[in-house]
Amino acid sequence: MCGIIGYIGENNAIDFLHYGLKKLEYRGYDSAGVAYFNKNQLTVYKKVGQVDNLFDEKLLKVNSNIGIGHTRWATNGKISTENSHPHQSFSKTITLVHNGIIENCTELKNKYLKGINLQSETDTEVVANLLEFFYLKNHHKLDSIKILMSLLKGSYALAILFNDDCENIYFLKNRSPLVIGCGNNCNFISSDTLGFEKYTSKYIEIDDFEFGYINKKNMEIFDKNSKKITKNVKDCANFQKINNKMQFEHYMLKEIFEIPDAIKNTCELYKNFESIKIINKNLFNKIKRIKLIACGTSYHASLIGEKYFREIGFDAYTEIASEFLYNKQIWQKDTLYIFISQSGETADTLSCVELCKKHNAKTLCITNVPTSRITKICDYTLPICCGPEIAVASTKAFNGQVCSLLVLSKYLQFIKKINIKKKKLNKKDTHSTSINKLISKIIKISKSININTFIRQVKPLTQMVKESKNVFFVGKDYDYVLALESALKLKEISYINSVAYPSGELKHGTISLVDNNTLTFAYITEKKLSSKTLNVINQIKSRGGKVVVISPFIELQKFENIDYFIKLPEVNNYFYPIISIIPMQILSYYVSVSLGNNPDKPRNLAKSVTVE
Ligand code: AGP
Ligand code: GLU
Repeated sequence: MCGIIGYIGENNAIDFLHYGLKKLEYRGYDSAGVAYFNKNQLTVYKKVGQVDNLFDEKLLKVNSNIGIGHTRWATNGKISTENSHPHQSFSKTITLVHNGIIENCTELKNKYLKGINLQSETDTEVVANLLEFFYLKNHHKLDSIKILMSLLKGSYALAILFNDDCENIYFLKNRSPLVIGCGNNCNFISSDTLGFEKYTSKYIEIDDFEFGYINKKNMEIFDKNSKKITKNVKDCANFQKINNKMQFEHYMLKEIFEIPDAIKNTCELYKNFESIKIINKNLFNKIKRIKLIACGTSYHASLIGEKYFREIGFDAYTEIASEFLYNKQIWQKDTLYIFISQSGETADTLSCVELCKKHNAKTLCITNVPTSRITKICDYTLPICCGPEIAVASTKAFNGQVCSLLVLSKYLQFIKKINIKKKKLNKKDTHSTSINKLISKIIKISKSININTFIRQVKPLTQMVKESKNVFFVGKDYDYVLALESALKLKEISYINSVAYPSGELKHGTISLVDNNTLTFAYITEKKLSSKTLNVINQIKSRGGKVVVISPFIELQKFENIDYFIKLPEVNNYFYPIISIIPMQILSYYVSVSLGNNPDKPRNLAKSVTVE
């Protein structure tokens, strides 16, 4: 993971690095560091802990107009000052920050750096020394970078300072994201446009195996053959708006309040479903099978999607990305591989796309980040319009992903029907009333979501959850998937052990853990299955456990074995997965805060997991 930032211009780089690193902190927050030139003197300053810890009085007094910065999520080497970036080469010729992992680092170290006493356990320090090795030999910066790039295996976005050049920041990239921000008499380099969007919305995306440099007024970018290239300047003003906490104490709470808009905006975009050029009727005509692949919360959204696709008669199956890579795959031409990733940067998921591409499989991604790597390597992209999600715990993106999958499944159903009737899809048909009706219904539901009503219902449960040693979530069918997502949400930010089971599975072993310290949340949103989950509730109550039910069916409140009832609004069956998760997103947030945790930055985690 990690966030990298660089600034060169007429103003004080320290302010821009501070701003940028704060914005990039979602990518990692184990330690932070900067390197800057002051009167031709290069200084490195780094500390364990979060970005604000780094920018102390001493650093804030510094004046410099060129610097690079880093916020780390440790992959190679423990969390320590020595392992923090920036790293310097042995003779301090090279100072650099790195996002990624160098897979052949040991091999390169043994081959080129014999006798060099490294100060850290990181792969990054090896990179700094390798670059120094080539630079001391040929004295040419870009040539040395090119040689370095030809040797490195793995992922890297690197921002580099040479100690004999205080006018340029050099860069190279493969797999890890990198963008250049084009300002007025200044330029930025960053892992994400968030790192500079307050100062400029103009940016250039760096592609794999490109390298070059930026200075105050110019930049040069080269492709892997060292050919100078001109790249399009894009504008991020549209998709990176509203990016501060506003009145909210945490991003997570702000993002929960944004759920209705996330749903609405995603659906609004789909009103012209076929004009989003990703959707290719011919592609879907030929599809007989769907495989969904994702991690974490996005995996849970995929499981809901799988059910939606099956409802309309499609053979659909979901796999966790990190398992897909190693499961024996049967490659069939009429399978569509759908990848779901909020960030579009998750390494496990990206590796699966690459594997699919190798087998000439058809790929489509559903992502919240239109500039992300996944959009570049998939054949088709279906965006969700949830706005930037900063909190590590994913909330609004899940609701958006589920909407997206629901609309996509209905679209496929529509195409399928057309096929059955052997009708040709004409313009009138494509503006199918059925899809637009569905979209209008979802938008109506989004408008009726009242986050404050949910807060009033669930906040009183905070203490009870906080005191529980084990929390179980149960449900059947769609509700089981909601249970899975609830357990993930609670455990990742509260650190309370929480596990999800299909309602009927508890009795096959896990019920032995139930006693009067156990709290179970049961989802009941499918009427036809409610009696089955009520059986489980009885089994739990007989063993002293406490039970909270999350359901739209108010009559269940009378059921004596229920300790607390969370009422969901009543909607059509297939809309429940879009909204039923909200109470547990909220409750997880309040439990986390009341335990003194920072729900935006849970321990050991980072927003995008860019390592396998
Ligand atoms: C969700 O709360 C998690 N932080 C995590 O499971 C996340 O959903 C997962 O890493 C996948 O991320 P992606 O959607 O950006 O690919
Ligand atoms: N591999 C580097 C380190 O551990 C960078 C980590 C990353 O980008 O995830 O410091």
